Amino acid sequence: MDPFFILDEVSYCYPGARRSGVCQVNLKLKPGEFLAVLGANGSGKSTLARLCCGLLKPTSGQVLVDGRSTTRETEQRYIFQQVGMVFQHPDHQFVATTVEREIAFGLENRALSSAEIKKAVAEGLVRFQLDGLRLADPHQLSGGEKRLLSLAAIWVLKPKLILLDEPLSMLDAGSAQMIKDLIEELRKAGQSIIWFTHQMEEVLSADQALVIAEGKAVWTGPPRALLQHLEAVRSWGLALPPVTELAWELGLNPDITSRNELVSALWNSN
Ligand SMILES: Nc1ncnc2c1ncn2[C@@H]1O[C@H](COP(=O)(O)OP(=O)(O)OP(=O)(O)O)[C@@H](O)[C@H]1O
Ligand SMILES: [Mg+2]
Repeated sequence: MDPFFILDEVSYCYPGARRSGVCQVNLKLKPGEFLAVLGANGSGKSTLARLCCGLLKPTSGQVLVDGRSTTRETEQRYIFQQVGMVFQHPDHQFVATTVEREIAFGLENRALSSAEIKKAVAEGLVRFQLDGLRLADPHQLSGGEKRLLSLAAIWVLKPKLILLDEPLSMLDAGSAQMIKDLIEELRKAGQSIIWFTHQMEEVLSADQALVIAEGKAVWTGPPRALLQHLEAVRSWGLALPPVTELAWELGLNPDITSRNELVSALWNSN
């Protein structure tokens, strides 16, 4: 299948900044692919995410969604419908005064009947366990509840490509698992995903990983291949999953990402 989403030598420099936030990044995504973008704090993940959804326009290069460039004003509406972005800081995403209205907001800009909108909002509330907070002010929610609402508001829109900027931050283990399960479910249904994070263990199942450091792409490949590159990973300001780091320290094969794998490798090494 041909790529429907392309970054072609994309750079972005914030006005007055000394260095580029993002520098000459190339990327191609086929329908249904799951791409992980890994990078340390300040490496340019959120800048890249904003470029991908058209909120920021490249200083040079281009972002193409179905062949349409995000720099063309006339394509803006089409691109916002195809690419849904879950922000790193949910407050930046909220526009409505209640949870229910927040989930309805994006749907109201689509050609949908009020019955269809009502049904989709109800589904979103249930799926993200927000039904008890229907009338709450989004800005007054706890950090984890805000995260769930920001995901729900994008999920109901069913965009072709979902961008997730650190989607598990602020979530406890139960909510994080719920979101991981949901993303796995979306993936099986053919959803295209780009997940931006500094935590490698969150994205080991991705089809491809792109590592960025100081705005530049420094590595691409299947994420599990990174497990063999302890020093490089550290030089990019990242860490391997804790059990993998332990496997390295114990002199075991570092292709280990769970406690069970570590235990059986230890048994086999004796
Ligand atoms: N609005 C802005 N104006 C000027 N510089 C900015 C702005 N936003 C980000 N930057 C700079 O651009 C670089 C990349 O920032 P970005 O937020 O994309 O990083 P990040 O990888 O998402 O970091 P984090 O993991 O902390 O979320 C940083 O050096 C940052 O200081
Ligand atoms: Mg960020």
